[in-house]
Amino acid sequence: MPALVLLGAQWGDEGKGKATDLLGGSVDYVVRYQGGNNAGHTVVVGDQKYALHLLPSGILSPGCVPVIGNGVVVDPAVLLSELSGLEERGVDTSKLLISGNAHLITPYHTTMDKVTERFLGKRKIGTTGRGIGPTYADKINRVGIRVQDLFDESILTQKVEAALDQKNQVLAKLYNRRAIAVDQVVEELLGYADALRGYVCDTTLLLNDALDQDKVVLFEGGQGTLLDVDHGTYPFVTSSNPTAGGACTGAGVGPTRIDRVIGILKAYTTRVGAGPFPTELFDEDGEKLRTIGGERGVTTGRDRRCGWFDAVIARYATRVNGLTDFFLTKLDVLTGWESIPVCVAYGIDGRRVDELPYNQTDFHHAEPVYEMLPGWSEDISGAKEFSDLPKNAQAYVKALEEMSGAPISAIGVGPGRDETIQINSFL
Ligand code: GDP
Ligand code: IMO
Ligand code: MG
Repeated sequence: MPALVLLGAQWGDEGKGKATDLLGGSVDYVVRYQGGNNAGHTVVVGDQKYALHLLPSGILSPGCVPVIGNGVVVDPAVLLSELSGLEERGVDTSKLLISGNAHLITPYHTTMDKVTERFLGKRKIGTTGRGIGPTYADKINRVGIRVQDLFDESILTQKVEAALDQKNQVLAKLYNRRAIAVDQVVEELLGYADALRGYVCDTTLLLNDALDQDKVVLFEGGQGTLLDVDHGTYPFVTSSNPTAGGACTGAGVGPTRIDRVIGILKAYTTRVGAGPFPTELFDEDGEKLRTIGGERGVTTGRDRRCGWFDAVIARYATRVNGLTDFFLTKLDVLTGWESIPVCVAYGIDGRRVDELPYNQTDFHHAEPVYEMLPGWSEDISGAKEFSDLPKNAQAYVKALEEMSGAPISAIGVGPGRDETIQINSFL
């Protein structure tokens, strides 16, 4: 079973970092295939807590080679500071490999992200402000700067010139900002070249060779299915493809090579930033989920919006990703409710709808149809086997599995590596 994709089944922050880290010891390569440092993955190893943004969570497992694929957007300053932060804590980062085709986030991309959000005003997306959207826009517009460009000063200068020609007009005339000097950007970028050179290689060739040799490769998604630019709640999405297909384009492997697709699914729902969220809570239950679940963004420090579990979304994630398994996280957070509402369908303008509506207006009008499931009060954080869970917690998991369309193969009962109930092996 050599190639697995692990991705978010909701709006991000499902616990992908913990799940990847858990598998890290058994896999040869962990590959990020999209997104950038908009991601915030918290990994708890013993009494140590790590917040990773750009690096694959496998970097914490000795023996595992972390790879940044071509589909990722890389802010070199963030990358180098994340690497040195880990080195200072005794983590060996020397095995890291970076695709020369990955695009670079430059200071003008972060500037553009912030000014466009400000310009949108009330209609803003609520981005992380890390330059993600503008960098992917330049990639698609064919005026992006790639990691490999750092090693050819003349090409780098030409490309930065081409990108800034147009952007400076927009910055000055539309946003009333000062133009950005080409020389300054080039000089800053060249300053990263030596530090990055040793990590850069043809990661596509490397990963396909690894798969030919039956090595185990884990593709780790950032963000989540509903933040996908094609399959998410557009326009309130990120600018990449966190869904399973993104692993193929973002790492350069064919779909026939993928053996298993694991959807990380929180036992309730959270969202950061703007956009529709049918099961969102504005009462003390929402506040309780936020407090007990520690639902505050790792990247931006923003409070996460919280709501009940939404089975319509889980079913949708199964469909668009071809999920083979779910990893249900944060079940422990639900301890202490007498009964727990679960959204099984939507009411839209008087109709019952069982599948995620493809029409944006319909989704904005969706009202959750709830089924009440009995809660439990016992502390479940020490549970090691499914049978250790109280009967009602078992029934909650079984009900979610039935509604969501793929087996729940693991359950998280705490943030630590070992606070996991493994039902079916992933490998
Ligand atoms: P990611 O972006 O998908 O990696 O998720 P985040 O790291 O942003 O958010 C998930 C948070 O939940 C982190 O603080 C994790 O340490 C924590 N976490 C993950 N799994 C569990 C779990 O099963 N129970 C509890 N209580 N916390 C968990
Ligand atoms: P992880 O990997 C949750 C959200 C932002 C915003 C939208 C677009 O930790 O799950 P962007 O900066 O990407 O252009 O912002 O996407 N967003 C996330 N929400 N978890 C994330 O990553 C996210 N990355 C981006 O809040 O609504
Ligand atoms: Mg996160």
